[in-house]
Amino acid sequence: MDIPREDKSKRAAWMERGFRYFDAPAAIIIVADNSLTIQSTYLDVGLVTQNICLAALHYGLHTCIENQGITYSDVLRKHAGIPESKRIICAIALGYPDWDFPANQVMSVREPIDNVITWCGI
Ligand SMILES: Cc1cc2nc3c(=O)[nH]c(=O)nc-3n(C[C@H](O)[C@H](O)[C@H](O)COP(=O)(O)O)c2cc1C
Repeated sequence: MDIPREDKSKRAAWMERGFRYFDAPAAIIIVADNSLTIQSTYLDVGLVTQNICLAALHYGLHTCIENQGITYSDVLRKHAGIPESKRIICAIALGYPDWDFPANQVMSVREPIDNVITWCGI
C-alpha cells in the first residue's frame, strides 16, 4: 500500500479497513457450535472455509480469509445475531476484486513443497 512505517495514521487507517472487511460488499462469518471440541472443529472449519473460497472463485468472486473481521466479536454477535452458544472462528470478505487497487497487485509466493512435507520410506 506504499505506506511508510512511520506514518501511523495511514497504517491505522489500513488496519481499520481490515476490520471493515477491506470494504468488501459482503462477509461470511464462520462459527462453530460450542458443544464441539476444538480438535474436531479445526479440520471442519478449515475445510468449509477453503471450500467457500474455491466456490466463490468459481462464480468470479474473490475472498480474503480474515481474523481481523472477528476482532470485535461482541459487535459482531450483536449485529449478526450470533448466539453465545457459537464460537466465532473467522471471517471471509467476499466481493469482486478491483485489480487496480494496490493491495490486489500482491502475488504471494508458495513455500516449496519439500519444506512442508516430511517424506517417509523413500
Ligand atoms: C486463518 C487466517 C486468518 C487471516 N487473517 C487475516 C487478517 O486478519 N487480515 C489480513 O489482511 N489477512 C489475513 N489472512 C491472510 C489472507 O487471507 C491472505 O491474503 C491469504 O490467506 C493468502 O492468500 P494468497 O497467498 O493466495 O494471497 C488470514 C489468513 C488465514 C488463513
